[in-house]
Amino acid sequence: MKHFLDINKTEVADLRGMIDSAKAMKNARNGRPKGALDDDLPLKDHMVALIFEKPSTRTRVSFDVGVRQMGGQTMVLSGSELQLGHGETVADTAKVLSRYVDLIMIRTFEEATLLEMAENATVPVINGLTNRTHPCQIMADILTFEERNGPIAGKKVVWSGDGNNVFASFAHAAGQFGFDLTFTGPQTLDPEAVFIEEARAKGVKVEIERDPVKAVQGADLVVTDTWVSMHDAVSTRERRHNQLRPYQVNEELMRHAADDALFMHCLPAHRNEEATDAVMDGPASVIFDEAENRLHAQKAVMKWCLS
Ligand code: CP
Repeated sequence: MKHFLDINKTEVADLRGMIDSAKAMKNARNGRPKGALDDDLPLKDHMVALIFEKPSTRTRVSFDVGVRQMGGQTMVLSGSELQLGHGETVADTAKVLSRYVDLIMIRTFEEATLLEMAENATVPVINGLTNRTHPCQIMADILTFEERNGPIAGKKVVWSGDGNNVFASFAHAAGQFGFDLTFTGPQTLDPEAVFIEEARAKGVKVEIERDPVKAVQGADLVVTDTWVSMHDAVSTRERRHNQLRPYQVNEELMRHAADDALFMHCLPAHRNEEATDAVMDGPASVIFDEAENRLHAQKAVMKWCLS
């Protein structure tokens, strides 16, 4: 069973194959209408369940469109509409859904839910975000970086802000794709140490630097994300904002990065909080390429899962 649960749980050759496949599928569409079918239809006659226990714009639409372009059909299910949200176990849900569909994508809160779904499903399961990781986003980000600036191996990526689930998948990717990663943010919002230790064990440089200006020196890619994630308590908002304000990505901070540095944000953004309009809409920004590339990267992930 080829589940796509996390970047660190997927073989490097398979990850590289997915990025290459995404590039090829994107190029092959060659400007055709977004509703048109691909030439190759690996999801023909396949039904895909897209389960959302949290809100989504990009993940929901890009998976839905991607399945259709590859000849499949989708059903979008919200957690609260399923019996899953009313006491049915994850295991029973996984076994039942596997009798109806060929592939399951789930966005959920706890990583344990994703893992239980994968353990009990008899069809591939894809991680569409948990509180802990967001691997599909980072596959799109690798594709986006390489389209613009070539291979990401050996480059310096700097994350400024909260050490959240998107950072965690960047750390997984650092180890697998071979790039250096610096986290800059307040100590109270440090990522889990295991993400950093695991990447270091794979031979890449992963650093924590409290000074954002020092951190960004020579960076090839600067990344940030919202200061309050979907799973964070609203009551933490003011404290987080006070702690994270020095880590805002603005034009002054970007001046310390490499001349051809890119800026990424997975979106949705709170403009002029974690990043200014001038950066979000500036020449280094590739935020809408990232959003588009969710479609192409996830098509490659789904194709791999079913291959
Ligand atoms: N970046 C991302 O996952 O966006 P959505 O929450 O809109 O799916």
